[in-house]
Amino acid sequence: MKPTSARIILCTFCAFFFLTITPSFAKPVELRCEYLTNPLGIDAARPRFSWRLEDPSQGAGQSAYQIWVGTDSAGLLQGKALVWNSIKVVSNKTLITYAGPPLQAFSKYYWAIASWGVDGQRTLSSVANFETGMQKASNWKGAWISDTRDVNLKPAPYFRKTFETNKSIRSARAYIAVAGLYELSINGQAIGNHRLDPMYTRFDRRTMYVTHDVTKQVQKGKNAIGVLLGNGWYNHQSTAVWFFHEAPWRNRPTFCLDLRITYTDGSVETISSGKDWKTALSPIIFNSIYTAEHYDARLEQPNWNQPNFDDAQWKTVILRPAPSTNLVAQVMHPIRDVEAISPKSMRKINDTTYLYDLGRNISGVVSLRVSGAAGTRIRLRHTERLNAEGRSDMSNIDVHYRPTDNTDPFQTDIFILSGRGEERFMPRFNYKGFQYVEVSSNQAITLSENSLKGYFMHSDLPVLGKVQSSSSTLDKIWFATNNSYLSNLFGYPTDCPQREKNGWTGDAHIASETGLYNFDGITVYEKWLADHRDEQQPNGVLPSIVPTSGWGYEWGNGPDWTSTIAIIPWNVYLFYGDSKLLEDCYDNIKRYVDAISDRSQGHLTTWGLGDWVPVKSKAPVELTSSIYYYVDATILARTAQLLNKKADYTTYSALATQIKAAINAKYLNRETGIYGNGTQTEMSAPLHWGIVPSELQAKVAANLAQRVKADGAHLDVGLLGTKTILNALSDNGYADLAYQIAAQEDFPSWGWWIKNGATTLYENWPIDAKSDISMNHIMFGEIGAWYYKALGGIKPDPAAPGFKNILLNPHFVKGLDRFQASFKTPQGELVSSWERTAQGISYKVVVPPNSSASLSLELLPGQKVWNKGRVLDNAGKNVMVQQVNAGNYEFVIK
Ligand code: BGC
Repeated sequence: MKPTSARIILCTFCAFFFLTITPSFAKPVELRCEYLTNPLGIDAARPRFSWRLEDPSQGAGQSAYQIWVGTDSAGLLQGKALVWNSIKVVSNKTLITYAGPPLQAFSKYYWAIASWGVDGQRTLSSVANFETGMQKASNWKGAWISDTRDVNLKPAPYFRKTFETNKSIRSARAYIAVAGLYELSINGQAIGNHRLDPMYTRFDRRTMYVTHDVTKQVQKGKNAIGVLLGNGWYNHQSTAVWFFHEAPWRNRPTFCLDLRITYTDGSVETISSGKDWKTALSPIIFNSIYTAEHYDARLEQPNWNQPNFDDAQWKTVILRPAPSTNLVAQVMHPIRDVEAISPKSMRKINDTTYLYDLGRNISGVVSLRVSGAAGTRIRLRHTERLNAEGRSDMSNIDVHYRPTDNTDPFQTDIFILSGRGEERFMPRFNYKGFQYVEVSSNQAITLSENSLKGYFMHSDLPVLGKVQSSSSTLDKIWFATNNSYLSNLFGYPTDCPQREKNGWTGDAHIASETGLYNFDGITVYEKWLADHRDEQQPNGVLPSIVPTSGWGYEWGNGPDWTSTIAIIPWNVYLFYGDSKLLEDCYDNIKRYVDAISDRSQGHLTTWGLGDWVPVKSKAPVELTSSIYYYVDATILARTAQLLNKKADYTTYSALATQIKAAINAKYLNRETGIYGNGTQTEMSAPLHWGIVPSELQAKVAANLAQRVKADGAHLDVGLLGTKTILNALSDNGYADLAYQIAAQEDFPSWGWWIKNGATTLYENWPIDAKSDISMNHIMFGEIGAWYYKALGGIKPDPAAPGFKNILLNPHFVKGLDRFQASFKTPQGELVSSWERTAQGISYKVVVPPNSSASLSLELLPGQKVWNKGRVLDNAGKNVMVQQVNAGNYEFVIK
């Protein structure tokens, strides 16, 4: 800690320093508990607290912190009702774990941070809070209830219960655990704005509950609780090739609810699900998460969830066993209707048929407003493309669907009108992937462009990153990549929102950096890795889709796909500086690596699918799978080191070395510097994943560059190669060539899709391919991360994860005049931006408070770097390296 606010930022390679005197006020802001703002209903025994620092001054940082946790918000900083006071800790950490006495269930805790800046000045945060939930299964009072055991019964059930309160209410919380999906209402008011709750898990191993603040909805006097249950993945009635209809957990949806009311006199009353609830079938006559929803408005029972509704005709519920004994809080960003999209156009085909075009491909649903005679049957057919006649075309997405009759058409909602004036339909327990909606009716109806609205649904993650450049194609690819990432995020990452909705592992680990640069994804990844742990066999094997009904243990689950178990926790560690997920998964990673060892010979394995959907060349599966085997062993060894597991560190470091040696012995021609046949994936995967012996790196990279040039600077890779081709080039001196590939606008390229109107990424390179032709796949989405890594030059430093130190190595690639990447690191906003000007390349960077950056600027012969009118000494090298602290910098390269 320095006694004054003068800070000196030393450059490593030059006898030159910046001296600035600025007032510092390291104010802790954006306080998060378990990565959420003021979360309700958390179960973590030791919650994690994090914050960012607001301090624009040069060299800003935190020298110490103190945290207070207590039960009295006003008295917190006076030390009243404290449960934990960390006392001042000399540390620049902004992520800490609760270390006080055990937290009580159903309790609200307040917390605040004091942060000392680098000059020793203390600044306080405002007060944040979190509330604990059930914490243990025995705290539940409710019974699990349902209406029937019949898994084939189609209509969705309503449940209701009335109760009276006579005292004045201080607060009320609803805790609802569901196998299936639910909508909750109190006194007719919908509770919360989440969609498709709870998240999909392997229901027989882990069932999630959601906590809602219902203080405003519970009233003195008579109250009614209403619950509507949907099937979700729990009772999959549609039939497709993955056998979700045969899932071992399959049953009629069921729920357990505790409504906990705290009165102003301090007493507590809990209203629970039980035998005294009534049930009836709702107007949702069919609902399938996979296909669609059917609604018969004639069956509506107005005010069914109001206190005075007459439920004499309703049945008594049945009691059911809990779907699993593992009830856990859903502590994550929920799925929501994130964006409302008005149609770009509507075409009336005839009196009974209208075609809407949203102008972009999304995941989600539509709402329709329409009037007509009672019994009018309207179908809403959702597709990604049109056929030659300009009508909705389903043929690229219904290929794995195996309907047993015609009552459940794919991606087609059915709405039957009640005839009571204007009516509105919007599915509750389903989503689709689509751009077009063909609305058809068995009787003439009148629709306008405003009758229909699209809703882009996905896990509603805070946005962290943004890319902008002088190339509109680049910007559109970035937008399309994010659209596909989000379209494939529903509490677990999926491959596509239409054909499958499967949690394909390979697609997800390839796209995980793209996700982490752009969105605050930790809560979803932590949940999905818990899904992995639920699915792992005792012998270490994981399925290729997670969660699964059982499919995927025999196909597609080699290390090239299911290395999710190692790669995602590692990336989360690099991006957040949080090792919890690595710790939670440590044993699982180890068992998976051991399972690969069991399936390998001479440290090589052929277990895997290989470079999926390639342009033309396919690398040997043994090469790519063995590389992922190496990646996993390396992550395991590094994690062992991090967690101080010395014996494992020794064992798995040695294993990694052996795998690498085996790959090089079989595939690398040391004379020529060529792997296998020298195709793009064969060359770029060893370079990117650190397989190439250091003395041969330049040679292998030069050969790769030559190969790419011979391929006309176009892609010749599949899924695994898209991860490596651009990075291997830009990390080894060929950034211009990497950009040439990335900027192509003819086949095969990302730009080719964009030129042909894509607003999402596709599953196949030719736009007229005959199979594997979803139009909303994230699997080729690594390019989104590459923009940050290569053009913005932003990478996490494994030695100081969570962007405490940033590796900054931007490439001012030929053909691009301007590029800016901004990314909110756990410390604050990082901006890396460059532009060609008459004076040279102007490179501006904002390093967030409490972090540093290792900046490398690669120079062409004769180029120099200028800062504030002075030339920086690059010691005669073709790279200028500097270590910089928090603050704003501008360099000119000329
Ligand atoms: C999915 C892919 C997935 C692949 C595995 C496809 O059906 O859509 O994205 O990774 O199968 O081979």
